[in-house]
Amino acid sequence: MALSHLIDLNDCTTSEWDELIRLAADIRMNPEDYLSRCRGKIMATLFYEPSTRTQMSFQAAMLRLGGQIIGFDNPINSSVAKGESLKDTIKIVSGYSDILVMRHPIEGAAKAASLYSNCPIINAGDGGHLHPTQTLTDLVTLSIEKDGLTGHTIGLCGDLRYGRTVHSLIKAMCKIGGNRFILISTPELTVPQYIKDVMDRSGCEYTEVNTLEECIGDLDVLYMTRIQRERFATPEEYEQQRGIYILDREKMKKAKKDLVVMHPLPRVDEIENEIDNDRRAAYFRQAVNGMYVRMALILKMIENNLKIEDTPKILDNNHTCHNPRCITQQEHYLPHYFKKDAAGNLACIYCDDKQR
Ligand code: NCD
Repeated sequence: MALSHLIDLNDCTTSEWDELIRLAADIRMNPEDYLSRCRGKIMATLFYEPSTRTQMSFQAAMLRLGGQIIGFDNPINSSVAKGESLKDTIKIVSGYSDILVMRHPIEGAAKAASLYSNCPIINAGDGGHLHPTQTLTDLVTLSIEKDGLTGHTIGLCGDLRYGRTVHSLIKAMCKIGGNRFILISTPELTVPQYIKDVMDRSGCEYTEVNTLEECIGDLDVLYMTRIQRERFATPEEYEQQRGIYILDREKMKKAKKDLVVMHPLPRVDEIENEIDNDRRAAYFRQAVNGMYVRMALILKMIENNLKIEDTPKILDNNHTCHNPRCITQQEHYLPHYFKKDAAGNLACIYCDDKQR
């Protein structure tokens, strides 16, 4: 049977998402029933980029299922520092493990890794591209806090350009449908074009605004994000963007009584500490939800029970991807694969960039 990798959450059906959300709730209610479901299994966590929540919640999830963990949290301590290719690292580590969780700073790295892996891969964030398990965490949180995943006005605020959690969440909410987005950012940090295309095709309404003040009163959900310092070309560009959006008590006074404030965390300065005790602040509860839904995901994937729709790919040696942040620019042995997106355009299979 073909291996199922979780690279993009939208490769699963919404009924698969529902199953994961239900399974996560059951694990949370009855943790003792799951204590040895992964006994004898090994999960590798390969983190080429810093992480607290994603890495530790995955590790805690596997340990709570009775499995064991190997891996690195800094490639400097692995053969990557000696110049080993992504392909070789993945071929080796996937021979030691039953499931592999990978975070990488380059867009499309998880998809590239999946071509060479002998075990299922979970994308734990690939550069500024996608972060499917954060979205699962967000969906669980929304379903608990808002009692459903449709009919909401969702504000997304901050770094919408490089924030991969934003991209995955918008894609998922567009697949579910029936929501409206308000995108709050500076003109420099608006969502990438391919995410706008997703919203346009889904029929979900969206507006772009520059300030939180002008829309906070309309929101059912506010998804705050950190300005992604590490993805800017120069420190000066980052400095121009930092500190523009700060959620404080004054702004919360204008918000609905049942607003839900989410944040994938880590926060830098975009939410004042004074908000933490406001019952509308859901971000710490959100982080706990992440562990349970990752338990559900690991379980399903280890049991080869997660149905993934793999997009048909086209090998095209006449075209290369022109996105400078794409993994094909760094790992030159990768075949040039493209797919047809919903509008019929050729898009890079790794990073989703449209063929120009
Ligand atoms: C996010 C990430 O890594 O993309 N964090 C997370 O996984 N919870 C958000 C961020 O780093 O800003």
